Amino acid sequence: MKVWLDGHLVDKQHATVPVYDHGLLYGDGVFEGIRVYNGRVFKLRTHLERLEASAKAIHLTLHYTLREIENAVRETVAANGLKDAYIRLVVTRGAGPLGLNPFTCPKPTTIVIVDRIQLYPPEMYEQGMPVIVAKRPRIPIECLDPSIKSLNYLNNILAKVEAIEAGVHEAIMLNTDGEVSECTGDNIFFIRGGRVVTPPISAGILNGVTRLFVMNEIAPVCGSFHRGRGVPHGNRRGSYRSFLDRWRADRRRSRRTCHASPHRGIQSARWRERAGELKTEAVVRDDGVNDLQRHTLVMFDHV
Ligand SMILES: Cc1ncc(COP(=O)(O)O)c(C=O)c1O
Repeated sequence: MKVWLDGHLVDKQHATVPVYDHGLLYGDGVFEGIRVYNGRVFKLRTHLERLEASAKAIHLTLHYTLREIENAVRETVAANGLKDAYIRLVVTRGAGPLGLNPFTCPKPTTIVIVDRIQLYPPEMYEQGMPVIVAKRPRIPIECLDPSIKSLNYLNNILAKVEAIEAGVHEAIMLNTDGEVSECTGDNIFFIRGGRVVTPPISAGILNGVTRLFVMNEIAPVCGSFHRGRGVPHGNRRGSYRSFLDRWRADRRRSRRTCHASPHRGIQSARWRERAGELKTEAVVRDDGVNDLQRHTLVMFDHV
């Protein structure tokens, strides 16, 4: 495999960063996870804009323009010859002296990896999968805004460990108010009565590219779907909040499992069909374990 590292395509085994890189020392940096479907990069521009926004939020000035990074991504995809792949675009703070001060690092390190990824066992994409509600809450926005796609993923990793220890592959994370936020590496959607609902950004989530695609491009063209955006957050019946209030953080739930269906993003040629699947998907496998089970949960695994 070829990796793009600061302007050069190098063999994977030679793609190394200095041990003084603050990305390694402090998790100081930002990244994007992008999919290639059938040779086409999914929503590259949107990902690049989010990268830029994340960098700005951590006071990191990108070394390359978005157009240059776009070219680097396309060059790396072409060099690796994969039709379906995962792109990991990383910008670290770069090498500098020890100490947290990010401004001692003169130049960020920019990396593009293109490789395969398998997040969940293939059969689970068809049959659904059990998930838990993690005990560990999502980091509050005031501490580290989850909409910044930073290299600090320990909050998610430790929730993932909870899932693994419970014998499942994924965990739903609540925020510190006990509201559903997202999963460890994916946004979450609930389908009830033909209505698509997804937590708002204010719940402390990543503003997922797939989430926006579902809300803005899939939901409006699927007759019985309502736009996730605009689902009221008040306390009215049927509102997002009343919906979630019913499964506010009950720590006892965390060891119980509910069922979700991970989708490998949406391949544009199939999105109509895929949306139809979402509508009819039955996820109630074991009624009565908890409220979550009465809903269809859909996650998009773009980690
Ligand atoms: C915590 C988290 N939420 C949601 C997502 C999905 O985001 P996107 O659709 O932009 O890939 C990811 C993907 O990396 C993630 O890490």
